[in-house]
Parts: sequence; structure tokens; C-alpha cells
Amino acid sequence: MSQTENAAADQQTRKGAPLRVVLVGAGHRTMLYARYAKEEPDKMTVVAVVDPDPGRRARAAEEHDIPKARLYRQIADLPTAKDLADAAINGTMDSIHVATTIELLHKGYDVLLEKPIATNAEDLAELHQVADETGRRVQVCHVLRHAPFYHAIKQAVHAGSIGQVINAQLAENVSYDHMSVSYVRGTYAEASRAGSSMLLAKSSHDLDLMAWLLSGNRPVRATSSGNRMFFVPEQAPEGAGQRCVVDCAIESSCAYSAKRHYVDNGWWSFYAWQSLEGETLDPSREQMLESLRIDNPYGRCVWHAEADIVDHQVVAVEFEDGATGSLSMIGNAARSSRTIHLIGTKGELFGTMQDGNFTLREIVNTGRSGAEHQQGDRRRRRGAHARRGRSPARRGLRQRAAR
Ligand SMILES: NC(=O)c1ccc[n+]([C@@H]2O[C@H](COP(=O)([O-])OP(=O)(O)OC[C@H]3O[C@@H](n4cnc5c(N)ncnc54)[C@H](O)[C@@H]3O)[C@@H](O)[C@H]2O)c1
Repeated sequence: MSQTENAAADQQTRKGAPLRVVLVGAGHRTMLYARYAKEEPDKMTVVAVVDPDPGRRARAAEEHDIPKARLYRQIADLPTAKDLADAAINGTMDSIHVATTIELLHKGYDVLLEKPIATNAEDLAELHQVADETGRRVQVCHVLRHAPFYHAIKQAVHAGSIGQVINAQLAENVSYDHMSVSYVRGTYAEASRAGSSMLLAKSSHDLDLMAWLLSGNRPVRATSSGNRMFFVPEQAPEGAGQRCVVDCAIESSCAYSAKRHYVDNGWWSFYAWQSLEGETLDPSREQMLESLRIDNPYGRCVWHAEADIVDHQVVAVEFEDGATGSLSMIGNAARSSRTIHLIGTKGELFGTMQDGNFTLREIVNTGRSGAEHQQGDRRRRRGAHARRGRSPARRGLRQRAAR
């Protein structure tokens, strides 16, 4: 059966009933998407969870009233789709996206899959093939396509407001606190642990946006380079220790102090206190400080955390019609921002996602050529005289007489 036929058949059997979903990997992202079931119970309901972590299974069960019999440790134990649910939300970590999704597709589930789809081209091709063979759908959480800012830009480009895109410049400036929590101290800091490069983990959204905004125009060539330059031991200021609250002489003045970010300011708590989840979901200040002191990875000095992914990178892309695009990912910005500047044959468009608006400039031909300034001056003068009802000659005489 084709994908469309499968979808149509599924629609027939469900008819108005809420979509039944299984949570696969009950981590931060999946639990975030699952909230939709609480907000719109008529549209979606959570019927089962798969996670090897008993604490996470228990939390999902409690939040969504899932019976014990429907808590699974692995996908292999999950019944086939028809017996249980219509779709799965796959929020496992990057390195197992493809393997887990293939298992789910073979069991008959449509899958909402977190980004990045895959961590290499071979896995991506295999996933594509299995989706085709099973006739199931895989939708990828490139959530920025649905952000009002990019949605409106897509509409403007699609409507031809700037003509054919000649060049797309995108930048992702990752704030110092986000950089240090996720890509220096956190899960994504080592490619071997996360299974992803910085570009895949953080900027797959931006590369997706570039290709999406130029859709119908295939990227044909790409080059890239980047480095880890700042978050390395050689850059550590004098007095920096191994752990902020243990042996650091500059902790109180350090912009990256783990104590200041995660205890005093309460930033990024869902990452910082992950290692305490088994004990408590609401740690006290003493528990937090103790954990930063002992073994919490988020308590490490940013210059000594042994991260190995880049802290800045640039990508240049060439499209089949000759258009070009660039993406700069820069970690350690004072505040996070995503900027975009598209230049086309009829105009340009630029903006910052965090501002929530963009500027569209069209090249308008006014039908005149050259001497715009003088023509403007002349028209302005004429306008002023017309308002006063006097001829230029008479006005000049009156002014001279008044002096
Ligand atoms: N779309 C976005 O903007 C966005 C933002 C952040 C993260 N992400 C992506 O979301 C994904 C999840 O990130 P997270 O922060 O929620 O991670 P997380 O570590 O909180 O969650 C992953 C969960 O998967 C479980 N798991 C591990 N192996 C499993 C298996 N074989 N079967 C089922 N479950 C398994 C883990 O126990 C854990 O609970 C990552 O791929 C990440 O890159 C996307």
C-alpha cells in the first residue's frame, strides 16, 4: 500500500478519535510534545511509553495515566501499531534515531522523529528506503519551519517578493550560557557521546531552513570549516580550577560559573539537575551544590570539560541554479540570536528571529533615471509653493524685501 493509501485507510478507522501515540524516549523533548495531549485531549492521547530508564517511564506514566502494562523498556517489547496506537514520538538521542525509527516503522507506526534525522548519509538513505517499503510516514521535528517568523519569510519568498533568491546568509549566535550548558559541559559536548557534530546537533535547523526557503532548488555543493578555539584548557584564565565550586579561585567573577548559572539563577535546570532525577525532581540548594561539587558534569570548568566539538563553524552552500548560501554558527554570543538575510533578483529581506519581525525591501523602478536628489529638491520646492499659493518668483521677491 502506498503512503497516501495507508494514511487514508488509517483515517477511515480512526474517524474523529484522538490520535493514539506512544512516547519513545521519555526525555525532555518527547515530554514537551506530549503536553499537547493534555492541552488538546480530543486530538491526541498518550497510550504507552518506551524508555530503558525506569524513572523516566514512571514519570511519563504518572503524567499521562498510562497503565503499568503499557510501560516498555525497549521497542522490541512494544506491540504492533494496530493493537495499540497510531503513531510514535521518537525523542531518543541522535545516534539511535535511525535504528529506533526503523524498528517502529516495521511495527506499523508513523513516527514523529526528533532532529537530526540521522547522523550520516547511509543511515538516512536506509531510513528513507524503509519508510517507502513500509508505507509509513516519518515527520521530522524541524520545528522552526513552524515558527511564525520563518513561516512568514517562507510565504514572502514563495510569493516572489524578492524574486529569485541569489544569496541566503544565515547566522546562529549561540549564547554563552547555552553554549556552556549544552555544548561544553553537556550531552552534546563530545561527538562520541552525542553521536552528532555541533552542526547536526545545533544547526541542522538552520541548514534545513536554508534548503526549505530555496526549495525546488537543490543544494549541489557544500564546504565547511570550524574550530574549537575558546573552550580549551589553553584559554583558561589564571586561577581557574577543574570544578567551579571546588577548586576555582575566580568562580565569583567568572561569566561561566556553574553556581551562578544553575543554582543562583536557576538557568537550564532541566539539564543541570538531570543526574539528581533518580533522587528528586526538585532538589534543594544544598543538594544542587553538593552535586556540583561531587560528580555533576555541569559542575565542570568550561575550559577543562574536555569537550571536543567545535565552538564556531561556517558552511557555504551552492545551489543548482547558481544561488549561494552561508551559515555561520558561533558559540559564546552575549545573547542568542538567529539572523537571516536573503538577497534576490527583486529585493531583499532581513531580520532576527528573536525580534519577531523582518524587513522586506523591494527594488522599485520609479521610471526616472539619475539626478534623483535634484529632482526631489525641485519637486519639494514646487510642492511648498503650491501649498502657499504663490509663484516661486513672487515668493523670492517677498523674502528679499523682508531682509
Ligand atoms: N527540535 C529541537 O529544537 C530540539 C531541541 C533539543 C533537542 N533536540 C533533540 O531531541 C532529542 C532528545 O533530546 P532530549 O534532550 O530530550 O534527550 P534526553 O536524554 O532527555 O531523552 C532521551 C531519552 O531516550 C531514552 N532512551 C535511550 N535509549 C532508548 C531506546 N533504545 N529506546 C527508547 N528510549 C531510549 C533515554 O533514557 C532518555 O530518557 C535529541 O535527538 C536532540 O538532538 C531537538
